[in-house]
Amino acid sequence: SVLQIGAGVSLPGVVAARCGARLFLSDSSEKPSCLQNCRRSGEANGLSGVSVLGLSWGEVPPDLLLLPELDVVLGSDVFYDPEFEDVLVTIAFLLRKNPRARFWTTYQVRADWSIEVLLQRWDLDCILVPLDQFHADQPELAGSSLPGRHTIQMM
Ligand SMILES: C[S@@+](CC[C@H](N)C(=O)[O-])C[C@H]1O[C@@H](n2cnc3c(N)ncnc32)[C@H](O)[C@@H]1O
Repeated sequence: SVLQIGAGVSLPGVVAARCGARLFLSDSSEKPSCLQNCRRSGEANGLSGVSVLGLSWGEVPPDLLLLPELDVVLGSDVFYDPEFEDVLVTIAFLLRKNPRARFWTTYQVRADWSIEVLLQRWDLDCILVPLDQFHADQPELAGSSLPGRHTIQMM
């Protein structure tokens, strides 16, 4: 089973489901339009049985406690706001509840903040995954013509 947090258009989750995962998509419980995007993305990609739940970072809604055992939690571009400790609170909770699960995330380096201190605070370890391992370091995937830093990282 795979849960995507802050899923929005839900591409990684959709790929996981197309690969056979039982998929749970989530986005902020305060953003019905984003939850609707999750549903529409599942439908547009011909997926049935995708569950969509409101999950605001840092909160533990009852639906979260009812999820089956998770194998993977996905997060695509969920560390865009420097106030991202709530994301890690949610991840720490999910990984404690599902000790065999892993959190896979990609993010864009937009500023010079570091996640290190917060990982220690929440007793989380991380491994950086070099994009060239799966040929994803191409300019059209990991580059941008916009000003500023736009490096993509995966961990
Ligand atoms: C930068 S977008 C990334 C969307 C999508 N994962 C992607 O890669 O295209 C951030 C997503 O996080 C969601 N989000 C923002 N604040 C949130 C919160 N407090 N709790 C849960 N989701 C949140 C937004 O609604 C949005 O879908």
